[in-house]
Amino acid sequence: MATELGAGEPAKDKAGIPLQRFAARTARLSLPTVVVILALLLMGTIDLVMAVIGLVLGLAASGLLAHARERRLVEVESELHRLMAVSEPSDGSFELLGGDALPVMTKQVESSLQRMRARQRELDRTLSTLVDALSDPLLMILDDKRIERANLAATNLFERDCSGQLIESVIRDPGFLAAIDDVLDGNDEAEVKLELSGPPARAFGGRIAPCRWYEQPAALVSLRELTEQVAIERMRSDFVANASHELRTPLTVIRGFVETLSGPAKDDPEAQTRFLKTMGAEAERMSRLVDDLLSLSKIEQNEHVTPAERVQITDTIGGVVDALRPYARERLVTLAIHAAADLPPILGDRDQLSQLFTNLIDNGIKYGGQDTEVTVSIRYYDRAPAGAGPLTGRRTVEVVIQDRGEGIPAEYLPRLTERFFRVDPARSRRLGGTGLGLAIVKHILRRHRGHISFASEVGMGTEVTVHLVAA
Ligand SMILES: Nc1ncnc2c1ncn2[C@@H]1O[C@H](COP(=O)(O)OP(=O)(O)O)[C@@H](O)[C@H]1O
Ligand SMILES: [Mg+2]
Repeated sequence: MATELGAGEPAKDKAGIPLQRFAARTARLSLPTVVVILALLLMGTIDLVMAVIGLVLGLAASGLLAHARERRLVEVESELHRLMAVSEPSDGSFELLGGDALPVMTKQVESSLQRMRARQRELDRTLSTLVDALSDPLLMILDDKRIERANLAATNLFERDCSGQLIESVIRDPGFLAAIDDVLDGNDEAEVKLELSGPPARAFGGRIAPCRWYEQPAALVSLRELTEQVAIERMRSDFVANASHELRTPLTVIRGFVETLSGPAKDDPEAQTRFLKTMGAEAERMSRLVDDLLSLSKIEQNEHVTPAERVQITDTIGGVVDALRPYARERLVTLAIHAAADLPPILGDRDQLSQLFTNLIDNGIKYGGQDTEVTVSIRYYDRAPAGAGPLTGRRTVEVVIQDRGEGIPAEYLPRLTERFFRVDPARSRRLGGTGLGLAIVKHILRRHRGHISFASEVGMGTEVTVHLVAA
């Protein structure tokens, strides 16, 4: 931007002072001297020669003074141009008006600064909107460890606006705070792990990068939630640890017996028979466990494929009950089915449904206790009642398996479908359980978009209810 000068630009001297303005200022400044000299001449106090000398000296002095002032004005003027060029590159022009220029210029500088501030505020707002739109929490920390900025995700995470607070009053993890110190001391960016104790406990991966905030050193912290990944990783490693433990236990028993049979019991046929029987049972347990593990992994692999066979659930459950009858008889348990007439088929995978009800009815027989009855009731709902989870209000077939066993304490009910969870691990193992039956049931139901719920009263028995979508 240049000062508006028009087509015929006024003449300027070497210092850039417009000559016309300089002449006007010199004339203004010398006017009182001229008036005084003329008055003295008229009054006869001085003669013409003195008057001329006076006028020349007066004009020269006024000229020097005017030049000095104009030069200062030109400097201020060019500084003002520079400022306005920074704040407003495309428009705005101003004119300096001789002796009245300073107040005008002050006003112009003020309004220019106001525009700059308004523009800065607008930029700030845009930046905040952008930063708030990010789903990851962000914090800007200054050299004095205060949080200069926190985005919306950070405010939600810490349940307060933490701007202005010390970072250690918000995050207490010593490793995390040390990493922030390092970055503020000039080190490179750092990746850190952060656990927030909650509740609920949450895990984050944090990146701390050096940056500058209005010429000050600062650290920009961005957090990425890893809670779910950490939980999955933990479950995976727990699962591997549990599965190895479950396999190692029968193996240890078998190896122990092999040693005994080839050593101390070498010549004891009675002990040999007993030990071989136990070894056989342990080998069977291992094989059941391997079967269940494989089956679980196969079901998980196909979980996203919705099954499409039309299955008559009464026939499937009838088959399961027939297959389990010998086992029930062995444990002195009576099995009974109560099925409503005209049940619609359900869309499912026949083998998996058979596996599902085998596990549930097997549990009823196993944990039901001797001389009791396990009943299986099947009915149809036009609109499933409350308690059917996401199937509530939809066309469903409901299967209830009820036993009269010792029941399950309420605090364990939510954990029953976890892999390897058992209320009484020793009893489950004694009865041949793998601890995977209900986990398999859960995954089969997930594939079938079905729902399971458990109700139990200690000493009275357990009721397991399954809802499946009617075709
Ligand atoms: N009908 C039931 N009555 C009492 N406890 C049960 C019943 N069904 C399941 N449970 C409990 O849930 C646990 C997990 O069941 P499950 O996954 O089938 O494993 P498993 O039967 O191999 O032990 C069992 O060990 C048992 O403690
Ligand atoms: Mg079981």
